[in-house]
Amino acid sequence: MASQFLLLACLAMTASIALASDPSPLQDFCVADPSGTVPVNGHVCKDPKLVVADDFFFSGLHLAGNTSNPAGSKVTPANVAQIPGLNTFGISLVRIDYAPWGINAPHTHPRATEILTVLEGSLQVGFVTSNPENRLITKVLQKGDVFVFPVGLVHFQHNVGNVNAVAIAALSSQNPGAITIANAVFGSKPAISADVLAKAFQVDKDTIYDFQSKIIWWSQTTIRLIKFVLAYKVKQILSICLSSENQSIPKMASRFLLLALLVVMTCSIALATESLQDFCVAQPTRLAAVNGVVCKDPNLVEANDFYYSGLDIAGNASTAFGSRVTSVRVNQIPGLNTFGISIARIDFAAWGVNPPHTHPRAAEILTVLEGSLQVGFVTSNPDNRLITKILQAGDVFVFPEGLVHFQYNVGYTTAVAFSAFSSQNPGTVTLANTVFGSRPHISSDILTKAFLVDKQAIYNIQARF
Ligand SMILES: *[C@@H]1O[C@H](CO)[C@@H](O)[C@H](O)[C@H]1NC(C)=O
Ligand SMILES: *[C@@H]1O[C@H](CO)[C@@H](O)[C@H](O)[C@H]1NC(C)=O
Ligand SMILES: *[C@@H]1O[C@H](CO)[C@@H](O)[C@H](O)[C@H]1NC(C)=O
Repeated sequence: MASQFLLLACLAMTASIALASDPSPLQDFCVADPSGTVPVNGHVCKDPKLVVADDFFFSGLHLAGNTSNPAGSKVTPANVAQIPGLNTFGISLVRIDYAPWGINAPHTHPRATEILTVLEGSLQVGFVTSNPENRLITKVLQKGDVFVFPVGLVHFQHNVGNVNAVAIAALSSQNPGAITIANAVFGSKPAISADVLAKAFQVDKDTIYDFQSKIIWWSQTTIRLIKFVLAYKVKQILSICLSSENQSIPKMASRFLLLALLVVMTCSIALATESLQDFCVAQPTRLAAVNGVVCKDPNLVEANDFYYSGLDIAGNASTAFGSRVTSVRVNQIPGLNTFGISIARIDFAAWGVNPPHTHPRAAEILTVLEGSLQVGFVTSNPDNRLITKILQAGDVFVFPEGLVHFQYNVGYTTAVAFSAFSSQNPGTVTLANTVFGSRPHISSDILTKAFLVDKQAIYNIQARF
């Protein structure tokens, strides 16, 4: 009896680990070890002593992707495959280049919400809600505009201009995955039976064969196909994918499995941070204390709930520190509610600093748009090791969740950075302000002991905050 119970517990634990997506970190970082052979959800960790600044670094987001392909777009990723230090942090970036009238074809990210900012040009963007509404929520974006694509929903971008367009997007997973609908449905290997697709799309088999051959040869009809897929409703594809053949499992085993599943599900539900609906657009006017913000009536949701404008405008960096953070969080985009992602633009005056601070609820991935920055973070006790790097335009750096970090403009020109955070509301604890500028002040008795200086030194600093 006891041993069966133990087995069950083990099963449940294994399953929980397997089910967990981007779990909250259990250490400062878990830099992916490419030589690791143990199969885990994500990657096994490199020995922390061997970790170097380059593990958190990637260079090249300033380089335009080659858009000479039928779709006329190119995605350049900066995820855990490029930056091993992203492992376990639930955040990544991509740069997307679009030729004139190019598209990023309808696709989903099975593991991530996406928040996209237009750097150049103009894009028509949109996503389709799930069954039964299949409502298209769409918007034309200009430079500096921001739009959110909820996790798992089919979405696309279309360059609606005669010039190239560039976007930068943050995704709420170290490895968001992408399912391009046309390829998955008509280009799978082996192919999905034409009988299935003919019924799904309500057309004859010849039409299906036509599409399958075209996708396989990656022909010019991709765009036609995409219009077709959108027009004939994605919902039928989904129902086909979900229905599976009956499986015969011996009775004993099935009983055990059911029990184990029950245990696992109970645990998973308690732990679940994944979305439980297409979106939960924040409705801040209602009075209800919840973790996050209560949802707006989905029928009243509109494209502007997922939209923000103005990230092309420089923040006023004439501050005591010489930097200004322009945050785009759930307060600015109600559609970000429950999605675990947000972004910010950071402007630096010459020699300006974004002083040492932590984000209690988020890891951060930063890319330099202009200028050069010295960045760094400090590991937790007892090592307190500083991991630092000088970044140029197009360079990317990761700041692990909760760790003290800073950015410093090491130049006579202004600098601009773009950051993404693995929380809709990451929070910021600027250490100088928090420790010396709290209201009321922390007693100087405590601070003299903590910093091992005399009271006058403490009073001097407190007077500045
Ligand atoms: C872009 O891709 C096309 C097609 O693959 C290739 O012919 C061309 O040389 C590439 N251009 C550059 C600049 O790499
Ligand atoms: C699956 O099970 C249902 C109910 O037991 C049955 O009606 C159906 O024929 C089965 N399908 C297959 C493919 O075995
Ligand atoms: C920037 O802020 C400083 C200090 O608050 C102020 O004096 C200055 O006028 C501001 N500049 C702009 C362009 O708003």
